This record gives sequence, C-alpha cells and structure tokens, in this order.
Amino acid sequence: MRILVCGGAGYIGSNMTAMLSAEGHKPVVFDNLVTGHRSAVVGALFVHGDLADYELLVETLKKYKVEAVMHFAALIEVGESVQAPLKYYHNNLCNTQNLLSAMEATEVDKLVFSSTAAVYGIPNQVPITEDSPKEPINPYGETKMAAERMCHHQSQTGKLAFASLRYFNACGAGNNCSLGEDHHPESHLIPLAIQAAMGKRSEIPIYGTDYPTPDGTCIRDYIHIEDLCRAHLLTLNKLEATSEEVCELVYNLGNGKGYSVKEVIETVKKVTGKDFKVVAEGRRPGDAPVLTSDATKAMNELGWKAEVSELEEIVETAWRWHSKHPDGYPN
Ligand code: UFG
Repeated sequence: MRILVCGGAGYIGSNMTAMLSAEGHKPVVFDNLVTGHRSAVVGALFVHGDLADYELLVETLKKYKVEAVMHFAALIEVGESVQAPLKYYHNNLCNTQNLLSAMEATEVDKLVFSSTAAVYGIPNQVPITEDSPKEPINPYGETKMAAERMCHHQSQTGKLAFASLRYFNACGAGNNCSLGEDHHPESHLIPLAIQAAMGKRSEIPIYGTDYPTPDGTCIRDYIHIEDLCRAHLLTLNKLEATSEEVCELVYNLGNGKGYSVKEVIETVKKVTGKDFKVVAEGRRPGDAPVLTSDATKAMNELGWKAEVSELEEIVETAWRWHSKHPDGYPN
C-alpha cells in the first residue's frame, strides 16, 4: 500500500517507516523536522511539511496516490503540555483536524492514529483495558483523547476507517538497532539512564520513592519498538480487510509486564556494565503510580503479542543504538 507516515522522522514513525518498506509497502514520510531527524528516514520518499499546511497535505495525498495514513506527528512531553497547553492543542488536535479534512477531500479513508496510555489518567484498576475510564490528567492526554473523539465522529460518517493505538512505554531500538530514541530535550527514563551510563549525565533522578508499589517507585509497561510497529501492520491489514460501513478499532499496546523505575535503572547498569549516580527526588507532577496494559483485545483481534518482553533484551537494543550514536542522529 502507499502509506503517508506523518511524523515519520520521529522515533516511532521512523521505525514504522523502515518496517513498512521492508514489508513491501510504499511509505511517504511527511514531517516538519521540528523534533524528527531527516537521517532517521530510510526506505521512503520524504516530504518536508507541516500538518498545518492543508494545501501541501492535499497535494501530497494526491501526488503519491496515498491509500492510508499513519499519524505519529505529535508533541509528547507531558510537562511541556502543562506549561504550553495551546501549543499541544494546536499540534495534536488542530493539525489532526487538518489532516482529516485533507483526507476527506482526497477520499483517503484509512487512518492509524498514535494514541497513548495517558488518555486513562490515573487508572482505578491495572492492568488497563480499553474500556477503562478515560480521565487524562494533563493537556497532552487531553489532546490525544480529543483527537480520538474527532476521529470517532468522522468514522461515524462512513468516510473514515480508523484505528486508535494506545501506546504504553515505547522503547528500545529497531531495524537492526539502527533506529533509536533521540529526543531534545530527553525526558524518557531508559535513554536518560543510558546517557548516565555513558557519562553524558552526572546522575539520574528518581521521581518519587514513596509510591504505593513494592519498591516505592513508579511501575510502567515497556514495549519494544518493533513489537509496537508490528501491531500497526496488523491493524492496517484489519482496516483494509473490513467490509463494515463504519470501522473504528481501539487497542492498548503494551506487553503487560510492569517494571519499576529502580528495576529499569538496575537493568541499564547491568546491560551497560557501568555504574552511575542515582538521586531520589520528589514526585513528577502527572505521574500515575502504576500503568500496565491488558493487551488481550489486540491479541484476540489482531493475533498480536509482544515478542520482546524481557526488559533486559529491550534495553540491550537501546544500548546498541546509543553506543553507535553517542551524539544522536547527525541531523
Ligand atoms: N523517571 C524518573 N527519572 C527520570 C525520568 C523518568 O524517575 O529521569 C520516571 C518517571 O517519573 C516515570 C517513569 O520513569 O515514573 C517513566 O517515565 P518516562 O518519562 O520514561 O515515561 P512516561 O511513563 O512518563 O511516559 C510515557 C510516554 C508518554 C505517555 C505515557 C503514557 O513517554 O508519551 O508514557 O503513560 F504519555
């Protein structure tokens, strides 16, 4: 299929693009390169553009005869979203509306949308199922939930078959460890701990050691990037195969296992063979104590299961990427 990958120069989008290309699809990456990296785009055509540019979107969808869209282009920093909510509403919601309008105008009717476990807020029960209450606790989660709702309403018209994939903690490196995580600034635990192991940071903070968990630190569900991307391929196949007039799919994507912040840090030390300083700090606003996914639905309906489920294996892939790219991507 000819697939427009919005945000295809970012961490998840670039891994998805490489996988689509390896599977014989024809991806076209559309990215403004504000947070993405041009050199992370392999095996695809590249359009330098912003989702706010409706004309360019329409032109691109037509020019490449796009059949389906995967939408990864979003801002993802929870803390920043609290400081600059309008920036998040603009990027994550208004731009998604622009994309849907361009798709409607060009009759492109399939969308796989990147959503997040942040739509659930602080869950009253874990592991989290798709029908758990959605009560985001920050603007980032709110904008993702609002975009999901917009896609839902558009799908009700019969003009859009869409899937919302709610990611838990995507991590590791894919495409033979050639595509990894390179955010500026970096806020994610695994890359930060690896940077500490590499001596690029003097220490790593633990945000909160008094949570109601066995070791007092937050528990997350870490899912390897290639498992995550594979679920997108299966989702796309399902969207394509549907004969329903209205098609809306929602899946949690996680591996169901929870690891605490302390366990992640210990794993990074073990995999890298380096010790580094760890400092206990106060809680980070917006953090839920435990977020783990119940991915039974994806398993039953897509035949999907996370294959790389051991944290050590996931961290090894990230470590291989960071070792080869100590300064991140060249551009
Ligand atoms: N953490 C630390 N020290 C750090 C960085 C993180 O202790 O230096 C902790 C956090 O407080 C959290 C855990 O490590 O408890 C994981 O934090 P990340 O920032 O790596 O990931 P999050 O769970 O906060 O966020 C991820 C995605 C978000 C998404 C969210 C959904 O990055 O985009 O999952 O739950 F919204």
